[in-house]
Amino acid sequence: MKYAIIGTSWITQAFIDSANTQKDFTLGGVYSRSLAHAVEFASKNNCDYAYDDLVTLAKSGVDAVYIASPNSLHYEQAKLFLTHGKHVICEKPAAVWPEQLRRLHDLAHENGLVFMEAIMMLHQPHLKTVKDSLEKLGKIETVRLDFCQYSSRYQSYLDGNLPNIFNPQFATGCMMDLGVYVVYPALYLFGRPKEIITRANFLPSGADISFSSLFLYDDKHIVLTASKAAESRIGSEILGNKGTMTIGTLFQLADIGIEYVDGKKEAVIGEVPRLELMANEVKDFIRYVTHPRESAQELAQAQQLSLTVLETIAEMRRQAGISFPE
Ligand SMILES: NC(=O)c1ccc[n+]([C@@H]2O[C@H](COP(=O)([O-])OP(=O)(O)OC[C@H]3O[C@@H](n4cnc5c(N)ncnc54)[C@H](OP(=O)(O)O)[C@@H]3O)[C@@H](O)[C@H]2O)c1
Repeated sequence: MKYAIIGTSWITQAFIDSANTQKDFTLGGVYSRSLAHAVEFASKNNCDYAYDDLVTLAKSGVDAVYIASPNSLHYEQAKLFLTHGKHVICEKPAAVWPEQLRRLHDLAHENGLVFMEAIMMLHQPHLKTVKDSLEKLGKIETVRLDFCQYSSRYQSYLDGNLPNIFNPQFATGCMMDLGVYVVYPALYLFGRPKEIITRANFLPSGADISFSSLFLYDDKHIVLTASKAAESRIGSEILGNKGTMTIGTLFQLADIGIEYVDGKKEAVIGEVPRLELMANEVKDFIRYVTHPRESAQELAQAQQLSLTVLETIAEMRRQAGISFPE
């Protein structure tokens, strides 16, 4: 299978490095707004095909595309490739609005193609290990899911620049960037909450820089926190009356253990190399494309979760007053 890439930042290079660990999945096209940059990026990755025109790339012989452009561009770009018969793996969040994501799922389905949101944690075998381990914790009433990471682009913003990540024009900000990493595990592990309360803090650019949210269920509360201007040091916790699960790095599902009320400790998952994280995601994408019948149910479940996460994030954005230009 030949794939193309849109976007040439570090995450695309990480995707290519992970894709290179898979057999029969080769880079067959590089798109950049600048042809010179596309040529340079392609040649660095042993690819002979560079483009500065998306339609020409969509009409080329590649089978699939990996989209890693700013969020606000995902929908139109994914639609273009799906209507040209290409499978799509699209960076998170795959769309800005749930209706857009529903349309992309429908388009893929109608054309016998795969559309997959690139969310690494969903493709880690560890996610099921975490779910299966919950019963060891006893009755769970309190959960704290946290992803606060000082952004490498925050200083640039403070220096008077406007990086895409803090420019609402691109449907970015903390909720769109980090929100998925706390909402995905909340919904995967505990389902949809009955009620949500969300508040955010904003930069003068209009982008949210941090948010807190409370997910209320009949029998438990989940507190979700995320920030791009501060670094959390204590990670996430799932607290039960028999034991507490600590999750050191939530987005990687790494460094996870249980400490029981009698003081006994159990390691659940250790460190996970980033290359392996993305490789698992790529592996699933290839499997969905090459074994459509066998993987149809799994893909449908992943798409349903992806949609429920985006619906939830849209509601959190509404409550917090996070908005983007049309
Ligand atoms: N899964 C993960 O761990 C992870 C990590 C980081 C980011 N992401 C996701 O990946 C996507 C890209 O994030 P990023 O931080 O890499 O974004 P970015 O640096 O702002 O832009 C990514 C690429 O899009 C192109 N681009 C930049 N500005 C553009 C504009 N104004 N119009 C059209 N194209 C533009 C650039 O490629 P050219 O200059 O070559 O055209 C750039 O390399 C986002 O959806 C983000 O959520 C995921």
